[in-house]
Amino acid sequence: MTEQSPQRTALITGASRGLGLALARALADEGWTLIIDARGEEALESARAELAEQARVVAIPGDVSDPAHRVALADAARDAGGLDALVNNASILGPSPQPALLDYPLDVLEEVYRANTLAPLALIQVLRDELKQDARILNVTSDAAVEPYEGWGGYGSSKAALEQLSNILAAENPNLHIYRADPGDMRTRMHQEAFPDEDISDRPLPEESVPGLLELLSGDLPSGRYEARALVTAHEGSTHEG
Ligand SMILES: NC(=O)c1ccc[n+]([C@@H]2O[C@H](COP(=O)([O-])OP(=O)(O)OC[C@H]3O[C@@H](n4cnc5c(N)ncnc54)[C@H](OP(=O)(O)O)[C@@H]3O)[C@@H](O)[C@H]2O)c1
Repeated sequence: MTEQSPQRTALITGASRGLGLALARALADEGWTLIIDARGEEALESARAELAEQARVVAIPGDVSDPAHRVALADAARDAGGLDALVNNASILGPSPQPALLDYPLDVLEEVYRANTLAPLALIQVLRDELKQDARILNVTSDAAVEPYEGWGGYGSSKAALEQLSNILAAENPNLHIYRADPGDMRTRMHQEAFPDEDISDRPLPEESVPGLLELLSGDLPSGRYEARALVTAHEGSTHEG
């Protein structure tokens, strides 16, 4: 903590590609210290090496569903002097193509819930003492959490539960900023898995959802549900303070 302005630290899960990496790049640009993870070690190391050109970065390979990995993340947060932001971004789609609920293998559904719903809450629990006073918790959800899209019952219900966990956590912890944010459709690996036979090149890049997330992490919006790209439209012309 030798910087002139207070050093800000974010833990972003699933930052080896897609939205997590795009957000990590933007925060690195603003001088944040980063703690990142992903299961795939090679892609995570390549993200770490790129981000480390601009920022202090700790990369810890592992699965957010694994309690030992979550403790390692909490240790890193403590070593960094605490967190200004926890971004629960890591998520899995489940099978591709996605099965209808009546055919959904329940053991796979449990895996989806473990990664998308239980892991974010477990991380908040294990990190509760590492959250700085004005810390932001940002849980990345989806329109599939609220819309009855056919075939999206597994992933969608895991995100619906994450939405309501966030909603109630915010009510129980009025001192914290707890956001749930839908980034919108994005041209990422997960989106291609969701639409395996489609050309998804018309979908916006994840970078287009990042300014709205920065608004949540750096602004002073109340806890609640936000759509990342709508936030930017609402705040068009405003700048994000570093
Ligand atoms: N893409 C869309 O259209 C869309 C729409 C609405 C919401 N979202 C949400 O946006 C967020 C980012 O999605 P994305 O499209 O950027 O996905 P993505 O390209 O598949 O990236 C997911 C990231 O999370 C990591 N990850 C996945 N499971 C993990 C686990 N169990 N433990 C640790 N890391 C894990 C991945 O690396 P490894 O695989 O190596 O672990 C990767 O770094 C997700 O929460 C997703 O649900 C996406």
